[in-house]
Amino acid sequence: MYNVIFIMGVSGCGKSTIGQLVSERLKIPFFDGDDFHPQSNVDKMSNGIALNDEDRYGWLVTLNKLANANLEMNSCVIVCSALKQSYRDILSTDIQNQVKWIHLAGSFDQIVERINKRENHYMHSSLLQSQFDILEEPQNALEIDITLKPEEIVAIITANIEMKSEFGLFGLGVMGKSLSRNLAQKGFTISIFNREVSGIEEDVAVNFKNNHKELATAKAFSDIEAFVNSLQTPRKIMLMVNAGKTTDSVIEDLIPFLSEGDVLIDGGNSNYLHTKERYEYLKAKKIHFIGVGVSGGEEGALKGPSIMPGGNKEVYNLVQPYLEKIAANDAKGLPCCTYVGEEGSGHFVKMVHNGIEYVEMQLLAEVYSILKNMEKTPDEIAAILESWQPYCNSYLLEITIAILRKKEGEDWLVNKIVDKAGNKGTGNWTTIATAQLGMPGTLIATALFARFTSFYKEERIEANINFRKEDSKLELSIQEVQEAYQFARIVNHYQGFKLITEAGKAYKWHLNLSEIARIWTNGCIIRSDFMVELISILKEEDTIIKHKSIVDQLKILKPSIKKVVANCILNEIAAPCLTDSVSFLNGYATANSSANIIQAQRDYFGAHTYQRTDDATGKFYHTNW
Ligand code: 6PG
Repeated sequence: MYNVIFIMGVSGCGKSTIGQLVSERLKIPFFDGDDFHPQSNVDKMSNGIALNDEDRYGWLVTLNKLANANLEMNSCVIVCSALKQSYRDILSTDIQNQVKWIHLAGSFDQIVERINKRENHYMHSSLLQSQFDILEEPQNALEIDITLKPEEIVAIITANIEMKSEFGLFGLGVMGKSLSRNLAQKGFTISIFNREVSGIEEDVAVNFKNNHKELATAKAFSDIEAFVNSLQTPRKIMLMVNAGKTTDSVIEDLIPFLSEGDVLIDGGNSNYLHTKERYEYLKAKKIHFIGVGVSGGEEGALKGPSIMPGGNKEVYNLVQPYLEKIAANDAKGLPCCTYVGEEGSGHFVKMVHNGIEYVEMQLLAEVYSILKNMEKTPDEIAAILESWQPYCNSYLLEITIAILRKKEGEDWLVNKIVDKAGNKGTGNWTTIATAQLGMPGTLIATALFARFTSFYKEERIEANINFRKEDSKLELSIQEVQEAYQFARIVNHYQGFKLITEAGKAYKWHLNLSEIARIWTNGCIIRSDFMVELISILKEEDTIIKHKSIVDQLKILKPSIKKVVANCILNEIAAPCLTDSVSFLNGYATANSSANIIQAQRDYFGAHTYQRTDDATGKFYHTNW
């Protein structure tokens, strides 16, 4: 994929010659910007009058249209002085990410000397000086010294444009491999890297490349310097390595070979606070850092994940075409990738995604447990869940149905899986974040603690003997279980989005909740029909539990959740998230709660003071109890 190549520099820097040579070499059309001036500009210039910004505006817009039109077909080389950033902004409107800037740079004296050598080329030195005066050095341009020979300049440009990969993928674990294939399938030229660990990880990148035909043009490396040098500048390198210390050490390994303006994209499940720290650390080195949440597991990464990027918006623009192209599409065909906000907001949102995911998984596990206690086999439970799909379908519901149907010999595989649930830490962080932000993310904590409880297997076996249960006598209909499940899911999504809202306020991120719901409608683990509903609800109301349609739904579902939870408690069946969902709503919907007692207790033993219901000023009182 070629970009539109803009070759810029002051008059006399040789841009037309170089532009023509590059166009011949790359076999793409060449346009000299000067040929597109309106007659009024030509007249002014031939009278030795310098153009002003107003004269230039229409001309620059024309060149931008020319670039856009050529981009649709293939690409082109356009030469234009483009001395000011504002001119370059007009030239690259709507195509910022597909434009490659080449700056032919030389000193005033060098240019004067070159001009004087040329026949039929005269330029008054004051006119040239005025160009140097307004020249704003471009950032992110490939700067080339005009004293090099034309063929050397062309070689540098073509090596940078033609031979080097557009995008680098560092780390070929499960997700890194899938994302590499996805990028290559979308037509991007990529370089891939995996470390070499003798006897453990050998020739990973090369073998992986050789095993997948879409990677034929990819470049495979186990040497960091060679990998970095194989990339076009500014380099765009996506890190798909373990979150935590590994991410930091990989960044340290890369830094010596990176250049100013390069972009590192952390696609791991990194802690959002670390993302902010890394962003600041790299900023001091003039290296950009984007923290990107990626959801969808191995298959999603290959076929289209949901992508949640956070960081500086302008830097995001540099990587946007890649991320949007590899992302899943929503029902309207839009990419499930959107700029989330500043700093670690992308990773924060991914973390909350995982918190919601933990609860959704736990709720299905609780439903399974209830139906199992109603003496249903895994196949029967799968059939029941299947019958729920028209009302509350989700990816997690779908996979749970498939899981329940999987047999090994005569028995179902689920019956053979040890009931100890693992975790990699994101649910932990979400729970910590709810506490830090003072937000009652009760379900997320409950789902996390349910996993921790599951890990006490030996103690559970002992407790099971000590507190032996009576046989269950659940008096529930399947519809009541389904409605209880739907009730709890609504509370889960309320809490998840509320947590995002609170973080947005606390960190001053400008988050668009409806857009976040939209990018969660496909590609990610928590995609569901309800998430699609939330796109429009969140346009009207951040606190979804206040939205009329949600209030109406919860009212209809409430009798079932009360009955299901009551039955679980009476029958000693653990259903912590279902139970918590209704307890939470009971507390949330209590206008006059028992927190007055807490305040009185605090004041009694610690003189912490309290506010009074009969004093609207909010003044704090202390009583000598
Ligand atoms: C996703 C998943 C993914 C991964 C989690 C699982 O969105 O694709 O959330 O990120 O499966 O790391 O986390 P636990 O191991 O903590 O369950």
